[in-house]
Amino acid sequence: MKAYAYAPGKIIVCGEHFVVYGATALAAAINKGTTALAESSSTTTIYSNNLKVQADLSASNIPEKLKPLAAAITAVKEYLNERRGVKLKIRSDLPPRSGLGSSSSSAVATVAATALALGHKLSLDEVIKLAMSAERLVHKNPSGVDVQVSARGGLLLFKKGATPEALHLSRTVNFVVACTGVERRTSDLIERVRVWREQNPSLFNSFVESSTIMSWCCADALCSGDLRRAGAILNFFHAALSWLGISIKEIDTIVEAALSSSALGAKLTGAGGGGSVIILCSEEGVENVIKTVSNVASEVFATPLPNRGLKSWLQKS
Ligand code: MEV
Repeated sequence: MKAYAYAPGKIIVCGEHFVVYGATALAAAINKGTTALAESSSTTTIYSNNLKVQADLSASNIPEKLKPLAAAITAVKEYLNERRGVKLKIRSDLPPRSGLGSSSSSAVATVAATALALGHKLSLDEVIKLAMSAERLVHKNPSGVDVQVSARGGLLLFKKGATPEALHLSRTVNFVVACTGVERRTSDLIERVRVWREQNPSLFNSFVESSTIMSWCCADALCSGDLRRAGAILNFFHAALSWLGISIKEIDTIVEAALSSSALGAKLTGAGGGGSVIILCSEEGVENVIKTVSNVASEVFATPLPNRGLKSWLQKS
């Protein structure tokens, strides 16, 4: 039997970085993600179609880029007390290191497909717990928001350590994602914000509180279809995150281009320092925004919300 799992990537609508320090963030699954194919085997091998890299878990020299997936498989095997291994193949249509949750969607899909290939359908909570072991290897001190969104899908209000609140959108909300093409490591950006916080502790704490309040307001605005209000909140978040020093010229150029066309709001999403910009649009504005930002971004695509979370299935070989 072949076991498949698909898990989407994510955008942080608002509250990134502050969420690491206890703020509530608003995040959503997008329409791109990662598919894992696993088959039970006596040994464990991993092949990444995007990276064109292969690893054998019995070897000592596992390529750095595949270590998080190796950790995810090991976590599943230990949890299930399994001696068998899996032959895992992974393919993603998410640009890597672009702030769109490629590592978490890979971890979630890997955990679910591995368990299924070994004869176990894990609950969503079990998948999330096991995928976090891979995510910790990549991001050191992650809040867990990326893994939660990838597994659960939809639009979520997330606070570290609590069960996320799933929100209902009364109608489709249109975002455009524009990638800078500048790759960066989330852990480096988390460290940069940690240093900023150490130097400005009271101000940072007040931002954490503001971030929660503004994420609630943005959730309310999106759910009730008040896109102008949601867009205004996104713009303010972009200013605050830039002030922390995590925006770069390429991001600001995209934000400026988006707002000069028909965007309702635009901000960096995820860790910053490169990665991607999210742009909130009316349905009629999407085409115009895509045309304008395509001149200054490396990759641009529309992602209407909501989108599904983890899905896993078996197929006869
Ligand atoms: C990364 O997608 C979002 C950050 O807030 C880190 C985290 O929450 O783990 C920057």
